[in-house]
Amino acid sequence: MNVLGIECTAHTLSMGVFGGRVRSNVIDTYSGGSEGLIPRKMADHHSAVFADVLAKSLADAKMTMKDIGLVAFSQGPGIGAPLSVGIAGAKYLALRHGKPLVGVNHCYAHVKISEHMCRLEDPLILYISGGNSQILLQRDGYYHVLGETLDVGIGNLFDSFARAIKMEHAHGAAVAKLAEGGKYVDLPYSVKGMNLVFSGLLTAAEKAAKTHSHRDVAYSLMETSFAMTCEVAERALFLTKKKHLIACGGVAQNRRLQQMLKTMCKEDKAAFGVAPDEFNRDNGAMIAYAGLLLHRKYGPVPVEKCVPITNYRIDRMKEILG
Ligand code: FE2
Repeated sequence: MNVLGIECTAHTLSMGVFGGRVRSNVIDTYSGGSEGLIPRKMADHHSAVFADVLAKSLADAKMTMKDIGLVAFSQGPGIGAPLSVGIAGAKYLALRHGKPLVGVNHCYAHVKISEHMCRLEDPLILYISGGNSQILLQRDGYYHVLGETLDVGIGNLFDSFARAIKMEHAHGAAVAKLAEGGKYVDLPYSVKGMNLVFSGLLTAAEKAAKTHSHRDVAYSLMETSFAMTCEVAERALFLTKKKHLIACGGVAQNRRLQQMLKTMCKEDKAAFGVAPDEFNRDNGAMIAYAGLLLHRKYGPVPVEKCVPITNYRIDRMKEILG
């Protein structure tokens, strides 16, 4: 069956088609410019580009809506305004063309497309993005959170630092570029058992940026937060005795973090996997693939239940779908 997936949890509207493999994956991201990411403006962006993203996604897949058997949409976690636009669009398409609907947990979609791409059996998952930093374990068909950030997501840590030092493009990729060639400045390291704490590190980095070069502080911020992340991932590998680790989510695209995780896994005789960058960005293809899996297990979702769940943690899937 061919599935159309719609991703709309935050600043990206993306649509992809999955049918045996990824057939298309069109991604349109709202940058926000200097005023930052305002929810209403993300929603306006998604409304404005919805028809074009849909047309391109179907054209790239060489399909029309007639070829689509299921419409899957991102249901949360995310921001209410952009989620509402994507979900309204999904409902319209399903009703207009007589297709079933399925709501997808955004984190579950990142995990599932990465498992599909990496082909590592029963892995431990490190899910790291703007709003999330979690170590996940699958048991009895559901994902459990073994450890997570106790304050901000690791991606938000970099975004906040970039805004504090007034970078033109305030996001993690820009901080990673700035960090190239930097030298280490001492910053606080805060791991609490299986959990991570980033806010003290952010405050210290902002303070250090007043007396050290931004390059050196950016480098140190990344090295410190990545080392913390590797420590909890390594502890989770030991505790669970897993032999495979997959990193997924926006921050999993960072090459330095990939290198650190790969080194750690090699020392611990575990295999490390990460999907191509396109699937660690917010993307519609992952929603389509995860939608297919959920539809097989739970069937379609009635239209009246197709509403945003802004605080939809991955460990609430049993409660919501069960
Ligand atoms: Fe994401």
